Amino acid sequence: MTDPQTPRKKPEELRSQQWFGRQDRDGFAYRSWVKGKGIPHDQFDGRPVIGICNTFSELTPCNSHFRTIAEQVKIGVYEAGGFPLEFPVMSLGETLMRPTAMLYRNLASMDVEESIRANPVDGVVLLMGCDKTTPSLVMGAASVDLPTVGVSGGPMLSGKWRGKELGSGTGVWSMSEQVRAGTLKLADFFEAESCMHRSHGHCMTMGTASTMASMVEALGIGLPGNAAYPAVDGRRNVLARMAGRRAVEMVHEDLTLSKILTREAFENAIKTLAAIGGSTNAVIHLIAMAGRIGVKLTIDDFDRLASELPCLVNLQPSGKYLMEDFCYAGGLPVVMKEIAGHLHLGAITANGRTIGENIADAENFGTDVIMPLAAPFKEKAGIAVLRGNLSPRGAVIKPSAATPALMVHTGRAVVFENIEDFHARIDDENLDIDEHCVMVLKNCGPKGYPGMAEVGNMPLPPKVLRRGITDMVRISDARMSGTAYGTVVLHTSPEAAAGGPLAIVQTGDWIILDVPARRITLDLTQQELNSRTPNTATTDGYAKPTRGWEKLYVDHVTGADTGADLDFLQGSSGDRVSRESH
Ligand code: FES
Repeated sequence: MTDPQTPRKKPEELRSQQWFGRQDRDGFAYRSWVKGKGIPHDQFDGRPVIGICNTFSELTPCNSHFRTIAEQVKIGVYEAGGFPLEFPVMSLGETLMRPTAMLYRNLASMDVEESIRANPVDGVVLLMGCDKTTPSLVMGAASVDLPTVGVSGGPMLSGKWRGKELGSGTGVWSMSEQVRAGTLKLADFFEAESCMHRSHGHCMTMGTASTMASMVEALGIGLPGNAAYPAVDGRRNVLARMAGRRAVEMVHEDLTLSKILTREAFENAIKTLAAIGGSTNAVIHLIAMAGRIGVKLTIDDFDRLASELPCLVNLQPSGKYLMEDFCYAGGLPVVMKEIAGHLHLGAITANGRTIGENIADAENFGTDVIMPLAAPFKEKAGIAVLRGNLSPRGAVIKPSAATPALMVHTGRAVVFENIEDFHARIDDENLDIDEHCVMVLKNCGPKGYPGMAEVGNMPLPPKVLRRGITDMVRISDARMSGTAYGTVVLHTSPEAAAGGPLAIVQTGDWIILDVPARRITLDLTQQELNSRTPNTATTDGYAKPTRGWEKLYVDHVTGADTGADLDFLQGSSGDRVSRESH
């Protein structure tokens, strides 16, 4: 924790004093309205004001315990001599929002950025949990660049059903396939719903939420333990309280976000992502987060830095265990200690220590859950980036979640022009498809869906499922839930709706997937490719937006390969407000 020799900031050095330190009419207004809720005058005496950016919402079930977490942060802020002020921001619930929570990630990031900048805060604590609440808050905070600590809400307790572990998301995919194949009764399906999610917290597989909570810890903006403590574990509250304390200390230390979110920190995160077998969604989110803080990250960095690294973590969806087991095994510090030789150990973190110092004492209490580097769970498991005439700007695949036998595969394309076309035909017994085919889904990218929905892991045709087949090669410009699995090529760029080559693929074409060679190829000559025109008659699965956020998003969203941020949001505006308020 903080060095007692660290100089304390003088009141006039604090940003919040531009509001609360004034002796004039405006100072009266700034203080008086806050005092109305029972705040004594001495809270405005030049102590750091810490904004607690809360994504609590009953519409975001994964974050529904955040009032408790926020109270713990407040205690920590008071203990360290600060003044906490909690504020809500747009909360993105993965399961309820339509058409997809990802459509609103950038909108929420704007809310976060402007809420922080416009208000009298010196430091910020970000409360994050469900998938998109993490990148949206980090992106927004990065564009302001105040001292910032991230606190994740923590995973749920393990799902348990009829003596078996049931992983959130992952169990849904397999059970819904069993219902479609006629091997699971609907009554059992309904019963499992109550058993899968039985406590506060976010998905307890190594899905996107757990991945992003791990990224928060690996980047150094969260405290050690951030990724793994269950939401209902007392240590989660301790972590929140310590984050409150640290936010105050970081203001005095002038430890701003840009001092933590360095190129080295992102490289640590990319390598950790491989070691945990994390979600492909992290590729898009990390690139977008880096873009807000001035770090140039590309999809090729993921392949170059980490594709040779093994996956050490035996967690669903790639493996067997759940986040509760991960916690008991020692959590992320154990993983990072195993790959310490690949990390920038001198990277500074939110607790004032380096990553190397944070992981030095980590001990593995569950070697079947977190396997050693010398005998990993899966070899060469980092994200692979594929290029070729089908994805000139890249596509990604998660080898740890794929079927090894399908990593080199040539198949006949069965094309679905959009998600409606897919739903209309996939259950048709007359659909000309078998397990050797390659399923192609178009118009599900950032502009095309819009919002780049998690539909890339297309359910297989029932007639294939009935033969006991559980995986086929699938290609799209969509994303995939971090809880999902399969030989699924995602984020194909440019997307079909932006004129990418995916748009010209036709049923009956041959597609060659070669993951070891990093190639994805449509088997046509250049002349044949040039002669094709996109099937525009069926590219519109929805009415193009003419107003509001959806129009702004479609007009300005960039490709998946550059983080799918809005073009005018990339970069930072700092913490200065443009004009006086009165
Ligand atoms: Fe919120 Fe999975 S639905 S983390």
